Amino acid sequence: MLYRDAGRDAMMIHRTERMSLLDVDNLSLSLDGSAILNGLSFDLWEGYVHAIVGPNGAGKSTLAFALMGLDGYRHIDGDIRLDGESIRGLSVDERARRGMTLGWQEPARFEGLPLRRFIACGADGADDETITEAMQQVGLDPARYLGRAVDTTLSGGERKKVELASILAMRPRLVLLDEPDSGIDVDSLHRIHDAIGLLRDAGTTVVLITHSMEVLGWAQHAFLICCGNIVDKGPSDEIVRYFRNKCIPCDHKNAPTLAEMP
Ligand SMILES: Nc1ncnc2c1ncn2[C@@H]1O[C@H](COP(=O)(O)OP(=O)(O)OP(=O)(O)O)[C@@H](O)[C@H]1O
Ligand SMILES: [Mg+2]
Repeated sequence: MLYRDAGRDAMMIHRTERMSLLDVDNLSLSLDGSAILNGLSFDLWEGYVHAIVGPNGAGKSTLAFALMGLDGYRHIDGDIRLDGESIRGLSVDERARRGMTLGWQEPARFEGLPLRRFIACGADGADDETITEAMQQVGLDPARYLGRAVDTTLSGGERKKVELASILAMRPRLVLLDEPDSGIDVDSLHRIHDAIGLLRDAGTTVVLITHSMEVLGWAQHAFLICCGNIVDKGPSDEIVRYFRNKCIPCDHKNAPTLAEMP
């Protein structure tokens, strides 16, 4: 699928066309009898930084799990196509082999797994130079951290940085970053922003899942999700305005019913 670029965003100026990498077509998912995602349709454009924004419980992480095909999230209605080909029936490993990856909202810890090996595994045996460069890019001093394990002794923010370093070394085609700023201190936030720029420059399509206005502002294009529905999509500055004016004050007492959703 080919789209002409409206040329609105400075970050897109060098682009003249939009190629769809991932098409999501009428995706619905229920968990334990509750409808969590309700007929979502959208495209992710190759090489773009997208954001998926929405309040707590909107369905953002569930959507990421469904796109990745995690166990327990593959019984979707609708379809997901990568390069125009359905990946609905593919396992998470097969989707990863095709270049999709997920940065977890709360990355797991693995007793005894050396940090070097964790990064090398995800990055298909990356060499030491690639590993140390990726660590430096997220602000992890290799001299201090290379000997550590990806276990409970790492702080939450350190663990998020290790995960992002592994994604930088991996250079996936598509990465879903679930709350990349969570647990990250103010000083480190600019490094996370720069790392996302490096991914974009390497041609990776990035999806930032967030409810932070700042992170939303890093994206070129955004989708606003509420109650498992897409309520708006467009250039991120427009979605920032909508989210700030309509969602932040929303107490969900008057949340629209499914029938009222656009
Ligand atoms: N197995 C399950 N059974 C029933 N409901 C579930 C299940 N898993 C998740 N949910 C519900 O689905 C909704 C969406 O959850 P999800 O984790 O996707 O939200 P989110 O948008 O990522 O929120 P947050 O910003 O807090 O991370 C929530 O209301 C959650 O309680
Ligand atoms: Mg979440």
